[in-house]
This record gives sequence, C-alpha cells and structure tokens, in this order.
Amino acid sequence: MTDIWQQLSQHRAQTKSTAIQSLFDAPDRFARFSAQTDGLLLDYSKTSVDATAMTLLQQLCDSRGVMARLDAMMSGQKINTTEDRAALHTALRASPTTEIMVDGVNVVPAVQDTLKRMERFAEAIRRGQITAAHGARFTDVVNIGIGGSDLGPAMATLALAPYHDGPRCHFVSNVDGAHVHDVLATLNPATTLVIIASKTFTTIETMTNAATAIDWLRTALGDDVSAHLAAVSTAHDKTAALGIDPDRVFGFADWVGGRYSIWGPVGLPLMIAIGADHFCQFLAGAAAMDQHAATAPFQDNLPVLLAILGIWHNNICGYDSRAILPYDQRLSRFAAYLQQLDMESNGKSVALDGSALTRASGPVVWGEPGTNGQHAFYQLLHQGSQVVPAEFLIAAEGHEADLAHHHHLLVANCLAQSEALMRGRTTDEARHIAAARGFTGTDLDQMAAHLTFAGNRPSITLAYPKLTPFVLGQLIALYEHRVFVEGTIWGINSFDQWGVELGKELAQSLLPLVDGSADSAAHAEKDGSTRGLLAHLAQHNRREHPN
Ligand code: F6P
Repeated sequence: MTDIWQQLSQHRAQTKSTAIQSLFDAPDRFARFSAQTDGLLLDYSKTSVDATAMTLLQQLCDSRGVMARLDAMMSGQKINTTEDRAALHTALRASPTTEIMVDGVNVVPAVQDTLKRMERFAEAIRRGQITAAHGARFTDVVNIGIGGSDLGPAMATLALAPYHDGPRCHFVSNVDGAHVHDVLATLNPATTLVIIASKTFTTIETMTNAATAIDWLRTALGDDVSAHLAAVSTAHDKTAALGIDPDRVFGFADWVGGRYSIWGPVGLPLMIAIGADHFCQFLAGAAAMDQHAATAPFQDNLPVLLAILGIWHNNICGYDSRAILPYDQRLSRFAAYLQQLDMESNGKSVALDGSALTRASGPVVWGEPGTNGQHAFYQLLHQGSQVVPAEFLIAAEGHEADLAHHHHLLVANCLAQSEALMRGRTTDEARHIAAARGFTGTDLDQMAAHLTFAGNRPSITLAYPKLTPFVLGQLIALYEHRVFVEGTIWGINSFDQWGVELGKELAQSLLPLVDGSADSAAHAEKDGSTRGLLAHLAQHNRREHPN
C-alpha cells in the first residue's frame, strides 16, 4: 500500500484545481465540515479538504498513534524524553479526584494544595487582608517574567478584562530598561505588589528586571520590602536568596513546561485580577477541552481536526505560515501567545530519535486582531503571491451590551474576510468595476488585473458564545492539543526548547564586549560582523563616549 503521505499528496494533486467555493455545491458542506464542543464551533468548510482527504488524514493520525500518545501524556508518562520528564500541564486543571501517577506518586493532591494556597493569597490581596508594608491595600500588581512566565498571564489578563475586580495588573518582560521604567513610572511603590515569575529563577531578563524593581521598592520604602514581593518558581533556594518569604513562593513541578504553565502559579496575577472563582472557570474550560480531546471521535474532535488541517495546509499544500486573526480586541496578545506555544514547541528539525526530519514541521505563526489587520497586512492575504491559511476567531456576543452595533460590524467584517478569501473576484467582475470607473481599452485590461482576486484561499473560523473565562480556557487548551497532535504526527518532542540556548550563551559571552570589560583577545574571537557592530554601537553610545 502506498505511504499515506504520498496518498495525501496524490489526492491534493488531483483536487488542486477544484475551487473551495465549488465544494459548497454539496448543501451539507458546512454541517459535514464543522464540529462543536461545549458551544465552541470549528468551521473548516472553507478549506480544500474533502471526504477523501479527511479519511486519509484520519489514517495518518491513526498510523502515528496520536490518541495513544495523548493518553501517555495525560497519564503522566515521561514523553519529554530529551528532558526525561512528563508533560503534564493537563494535571493542573484535572479534577481533584483524578489520579495521575508520576514516579509512583499521585501528583494531583500537590497541584490542588498549591491551587488552594494561590486562592488564599489572591483572595487576601483582593480583600485587603494582605496589605502593603504600611497597611495600605495593594492597588497594583507587577508581574516580572518572560516567555511562558509572561505571555500566558499577560494575554489572559487582557482577554478577561470584563472580569477584573481586583488590583490592576501590569507585566514587565523585556530586558530593555524602557519596559520596567515605563511600567514602574506609573505606579506607587507603597501600594504595589511585585510578583517575580520564573520557573528556573535564572532567566537573565527576569532577574535583571526583578533587581531593578526591588531597588525601586527599597528606594521608596526602606530595606525590608518583603511585604511587597511574591514569587512563582520551582527554585526555592534562589527565591529565599532574594529575600522572598517562603509562604509567598508558589512552585510547580518540572513536568509543567513554561509555555504550558498559565494553569498553575504562573496564573497568579490573573487570579488576583479576576478572582479565584473565575480562575476556576478558566481551568474548567481547559479541563472540558482535555476530556473532549481524549474521548471525542476523530470527526468531532476539535484539536485533532485543527491539527490535521494544519498538516494538510503545511505539509500537503505547502503553505508554510498560519495567520491567527481574532476578531476580538481583548485577544490582541493571543497570536503572540500562540507563537510561543506553537513555534517553541514544534519549531524542530529532528525527530524524537534524533534523526533529521524529512518533511516540514511547525509553520510560522503570526497575527493581529481584526479589524485592525484588515487595514494593514490583509492585502497580502488576499492578493499576495503566497497563500496563508487564516484562522479567524469570533464571539457570538460581545461584553458591551450597549455597543451591540459595534459587534454587528465586527461579525460582518470577520465573515466578509473569510468569504472574500474563498470567492475572490473574477476577471470579468474586475472588468465591470474597471469599466464603471471609466477605464477603457488596454487601460481597462490593466486595471482589471489589479482588481482581480484569485480567491480559493483557505480559512478556518472558531466561533464561541462570548469571551468568558471558561471559553478562554477552552481556546488555549484547544491550541495546546493541536500543537501536541501536530508534533506527534511529525514525530518530534514538542516539550523541549534546545534552540533557545545558544543565543542565551552567546549573550553572556558578549556582555563583557558590550560593557567594555573584555580584552582584545575576546573581541578577536568574534566574527567580522559582530566586531563591526560592537565598534559601531560603542562609538555611537554618546553617554559612554560623549565626544
Ligand atoms: O528561553 C525560553 C524559555 O526557557 C521559555 O521556554 C520559558 O517560558 C522562558 O524561557 C522563561 O523561563 P523561566 O520561567 O525559567 O524564567
């Protein structure tokens, strides 16, 4: 029997010329090529997959053992082999009665204990029972972290703004002093709580920003600022060294990857902002998606469907990026969040056994909210020389009941974009428009060419009732499982991130060359470009070289 990949490619070759729009000649296209769970709809009818493609993609999933590996992940097996760890973010949202064994120990009770400690701390901050050094209520929380220790809580806190009824939350991630400066400049140290979030407590950006924030607190409040500090970390020795009270340190096990950590202590600022009850609804949304991913049959399984559509577009159609387009302003950091989730997980070139991959793995993920993107990069989506599968997200209802007319416009724009991408505009239609604008002869031909849209560009739409904590939990978990299923099909380890190490090491080695403490031999070891850039930047640093 021919290899399934080959069969998929052959099927694509045979059906490539079929317009997506023509697939709607079948009146039940939408019903057959969409799926729902708990009010979340995935419409993939505006893609080029047909029944044969779906059958082959299902065979591909089966042949790669997707469901067995999902079961292995969720039951605590050490599937992250390069780090010799389980990948158990699902345990952070599992029901308290679940039993998940790692190294012979049920990990769920410890997860629940930490959750309860977080709840007590967050609620006491919100109620003013835990106060700042001089008894004042905390008005602001600054989370200092980067990557998984920033993107999740920053994205989710923004997404769930309608539920905020606690202190204001701010996020500092970049080592660029501008970030910490601009955030702290707006705040009163006497009523600010600083949470230092770093799984390892060694990340240079976070440690540098934390030191700056602690100095800021000390300058205003004196040496003992422990009342203003909390930490999210597994490295208790390092948090203690920074003077953080162990009661205010919230840890998690090494089997929670940074980019999968929003569900536990890394979510502390979110919990402080929206309260423990809403945070638990967020966990419940993710848990519902876990249950769905593990049990729903192929044709109904949203994460599996989203994954195989990714494989179809990336590996079979050759579209090597995907645009995440939430028509939801509060999801404006969702694409950035998914960039880490997807690209740090699946941006790999070797299989689990270390052999080189023979086909493409993770695509480039990017995006911005609609309608803003429409007035920026959608030109390329509609008429550019490359096809970018689009993933639209839209709520049935906005939070602003008095602004329903805005939401109507938002929905109309979202649906208009997927329709336009699919149907395009024919040359005949373009000629009519050009003629109506007064073009004639060869000018009309030229103008018609500019006005023609090839169309036939695929898109997926995720529609949810309203952006509630439950729905946000569902959406994030949906994408987590999608990344997992794709990684399994490619045969890679989606839970390590060795590719980020070299740059970190080189930054360490470059620091003395930047701050002037290195000798000439260290400069000589660098390549010509790096040496040239160092010299140029040093020469133009007017503070260090005023003349
Ligand atoms: O550099 C990548 C990374 O390790 C991410 O995987 C992680 O989310 C981020 O850095 C932050 O790490 P930490 O929480 O240990 O500071």
